Amino acid sequence: MVEELGKYLVAVIGAGPAGLFASKILALNGVTVVLINRDILPGGLAEYGIYYDKYKMKEGLRRQFQQTLDHPLVNYYSNLTVGENGDLSLADLRALGFQSILVTAGAQGTKWLGLPGENLKGVYHAKDLVFHYNLLPPFSTQSFHIGKRVALIGAGNVMLDIAHWLIRDLKVDEVVSVVRRGPNEVKFTKEELKIVVRNLDLDKLESEMVRVQPVADAVGQNVVEAKEYILSTLPKGLEPISNTRFYFDFLASPTHILGNVQGYVTGLEVENTTLICSEGEVLAQRLGTKRILDVDTVIFCIGDKVEESFGLPVRKNAFVKHPHPIYPMENLSFEAYDPDLNRPIDRVFVAGWSREASSGLVGVARKDGENGARAVLEFLKSAPRLVDPGVLMDEFTAKLIRLNKPIVRKSDLLKLTEAEAVEAAKQGLPAVKFATNEEMLAVMGLR
Ligand SMILES: Cc1cc2nc3c(=O)[nH]c(=O)nc-3n(C[C@H](O)[C@H](O)[C@H](O)COP(=O)(O)OP(=O)(O)OC[C@H]3O[C@@H](n4cnc5c(N)ncnc54)[C@H](O)[C@@H]3O)c2cc1C
Ligand SMILES: NC(=O)c1ccc[n+]([C@@H]2O[C@H](COP(=O)([O-])OP(=O)(O)OC[C@H]3O[C@@H](n4cnc5c(N)ncnc54)[C@H](OP(=O)(O)O)[C@@H]3O)[C@@H](O)[C@H]2O)c1
Repeated sequence: MVEELGKYLVAVIGAGPAGLFASKILALNGVTVVLINRDILPGGLAEYGIYYDKYKMKEGLRRQFQQTLDHPLVNYYSNLTVGENGDLSLADLRALGFQSILVTAGAQGTKWLGLPGENLKGVYHAKDLVFHYNLLPPFSTQSFHIGKRVALIGAGNVMLDIAHWLIRDLKVDEVVSVVRRGPNEVKFTKEELKIVVRNLDLDKLESEMVRVQPVADAVGQNVVEAKEYILSTLPKGLEPISNTRFYFDFLASPTHILGNVQGYVTGLEVENTTLICSEGEVLAQRLGTKRILDVDTVIFCIGDKVEESFGLPVRKNAFVKHPHPIYPMENLSFEAYDPDLNRPIDRVFVAGWSREASSGLVGVARKDGENGARAVLEFLKSAPRLVDPGVLMDEFTAKLIRLNKPIVRKSDLLKLTEAEAVEAAKQGLPAVKFATNEEMLAVMGLR
């Protein structure tokens, strides 16, 4: 069952970009890697976050991930969750004798703002919808109540991915991006804006710029530059395929989601904000005045946080790192830390979006995973070499058998990839994914 044994045994939790690229570095340095993933397919948000029609990008990443999985020292186990309520806990992994545990489980928890009305039908977090259209079980088969007038909270690339889906796939009537700061603080890239920019209501953009200008001037910002950033994407903007009206509502912070007796969204209350400078940063300051936006759906595109139930201390949406790392890489800390006990967490390292939630592109997660792996390698220099790693691997696999559930291995993944390719050819599509774990397990012969 085990491909080959190296001189050290490390568990990597999460096979997104950070975990996969970390595993490669570890394996290339002679470490036996046990790569554990919750989703059956590897890739994390590269598989289930990146917009579904970016076939070329996804295929390129899948090929790179496969190279890592092909390494004989990388052992893959998916459909397996680590956490306090998971199949295995961190304590289980420590007790099994892993010399280090690198946590690269992303930031896949939900960042609730605690607003009244968050539980109404028609209030969602972008992550869930992204998982839905990218066919991650169980989100793939869940139904979402999307109305006709949709408020997207935030102005990052995830907001634009959701706008893309609403404007070009669902073709809703209106999409408003609700931005707590001003047009100079939008975080999306021009590349992503091009996809929907020709649905933008240009008159509304102009009136927003006029409204925001005095506030921006007061903090030394130039709204003309911000306007040009947006408008410069128009010449290369995609031909619109819907009449959806897309617009921005700046200086607005959500305070309350209004609903009817049936439990559906009827509006979004926002509080007007102004901009202030504090320690070199431009911040939104609430003004106390409120207004209601006429929407029937509210989607939070404000980034995510790590899972609280994973079993590591959480601060600022991510797992806590050692403030004075013993194995820093590029001045960053990858060492998990308990701030209440003021001490590092035995053998545990963090990288990727688990180390810094919702931060950066795949390339950033890759670099972070690789640096996390290098920190682990430094740590291993002082760890005793395993006498018989085979015994530990046998204990690990015995533990998995006791879980009494189908665990997916590398050889199974190959069968799944083949079945997907056959299905794609049948449907004449560049790629196809199975929408349920049951279908995936069935084609791999694990059900
Ligand atoms: C909607 C969206 C679109 C994006 N589009 C792009 C894009 O077009 N281009 C680009 O470069 N970047 C894009 N990104 C950013 C990119 O996806 C991330 O930078 C990257 O995926 C983060 O990698 P990660 O490995 O840290 O975490 P993730 O990709 O989140 O991977 C985490 C992995 O951990 C596993 N896991 C989670 N919890 C557990 C657990 N408890 N036990 C075991 N396994 C667990 C998951 O199954 C998953 O495989 C996008 C991000 C989002 C949210
Ligand atoms: N196609 C792509 O390349 C692609 C696609 C998707 C994601 N990504 C990447 O993935 C990362 C995450 O993207 P993201 O869009 O989730 O995050 P992001 O870029 O950080 O944007 C989050 C947005 O939410 C706002 N926000 C945060 N908390 C808020 C609150 N409490 N109330 C109101 N607004 C709030 C932020 O406003 P403030 O600025 O005021 O905080 C910001 O506008 C980014 O690095 C992004 O580039 C890339």
